[in-house]
Amino acid sequence: MRLAILSRAPRSYSTRRLRAAAVDRGHDVKVLNTLRFSIDLSGDAPDLQFRGRQLRDYDAILPRIGNSITYFGTAVVRQFEQMDVYTPNTANGITNSRDKLRATQILARHDIGMPATTFVRDRADVIPAIERVGGAPVVLKLLEGTQGIGVILAPTIKVAEAIIETLQSTRQQVLIQRFVSESKGRDIRALVVGDRVVAAMRRVAQGDEFRSNVHRGGSVEAVTLDAEYERVAVRAAQIMGLKVAGVDMLEGNDGPLVMEVNSSPGLEGIERATNLDIAGAIVDYIGDQVAFPQIDVRERLSISTGYGVAELVVHGDAELVGRTIKESGLWERDITVLTVHRGTSVIPNAKGREVLEAEDRLLCFGRLEEMRSMIPERPKRRKRVKRLPKDAMESLQED
Ligand SMILES: Nc1ncnc2c1ncn2[C@@H]1O[C@H](COP(=O)(O)OP(=O)(O)O)[C@@H](O)[C@H]1O
Ligand SMILES: [Mg+2]
Repeated sequence: MRLAILSRAPRSYSTRRLRAAAVDRGHDVKVLNTLRFSIDLSGDAPDLQFRGRQLRDYDAILPRIGNSITYFGTAVVRQFEQMDVYTPNTANGITNSRDKLRATQILARHDIGMPATTFVRDRADVIPAIERVGGAPVVLKLLEGTQGIGVILAPTIKVAEAIIETLQSTRQQVLIQRFVSESKGRDIRALVVGDRVVAAMRRVAQGDEFRSNVHRGGSVEAVTLDAEYERVAVRAAQIMGLKVAGVDMLEGNDGPLVMEVNSSPGLEGIERATNLDIAGAIVDYIGDQVAFPQIDVRERLSISTGYGVAELVVHGDAELVGRTIKESGLWERDITVLTVHRGTSVIPNAKGREVLEAEDRLLCFGRLEEMRSMIPERPKRRKRVKRLPKDAMESLQED
């Protein structure tokens, strides 16, 4: 395959290893500086120039987008996606994982264990928020920090309040998070490639430091993960839309607590700690998947007017429980079941003989009008737009 590694650091350990792994396998590989692309939207189809020249054809890219160029870097990745070039990590996935709040919000609905986290804006909400996550000592995090910078352990509520106020005064946003003291300055980094963990290490913070980042002096050792840790790491990466990811987890009393999912995990520490050819595993995975460029399913399936994607929930008393999909009448109503979510497991491409159970969540494609009647009533939150009273404009006060 023709592979482009998007990186501004051709001489870094990770980029050199990835390049060498591709060369070893007989691939045609180039390392391209992400910032030298031009996104060309002037022609009939989305296109890219590199260093001012028409970009040659590539089968796949491997984005290694640094934190400082997320916006431009993800725009380049998105352009490759539009051109049907395979990428293991989507622009969306990279964007979502980079912002700690956004990542936590997305993972929270999928039953992934995470340290209790809150996000507030108003001063008056700070103390209740800290108390909600268990009080001091409490962890504060800048939304887009990396390498441990911007992660602070505040010993008391007063100090936490002062730090938050200071950061907010310089327009920086902070997450408030429970301090998981039982993990004792250690955490787990799992390297996920596709649907498996290919390597894992434990990082141990130095001295009385609580951050275990290698850049903060943390030391590393190889570990064999419990099945539960592996399952959570793979799911977290999948939910974020990343096929190559470094998933960081704390060892909580009740199991793994995901802190973050990194879209450009460094390879040096983990390859040295485990002696495994992780770069090779990444390149092999891309080689296997190259025929399947990323497709935004929802976007593509919504193009047929009147059709779309919806999640239908099977309720206990409904006529669906105990029936097979074939008997359910869904097909007759022009509704196709794509997947069935049952608890935390998923039945992909559910067949007609699949028997439906109460609380199953059916991801369906079909006629929106037919599906509308099957979506459970939500309590209505949106009120009608009312007319302004006559004197409203005069009494209006700017916030
Ligand atoms: N809630 C927490 N409780 C205990 N330790 C934490 C917590 N959050 C982060 N840490 C420690 O701080 C380190 C850095 O935090 P992380 O959220 O991964 O930020 P970064 O993106 O800077 O690596 C983690 O590897 C972990 O050792
Ligand atoms: Mg981290």
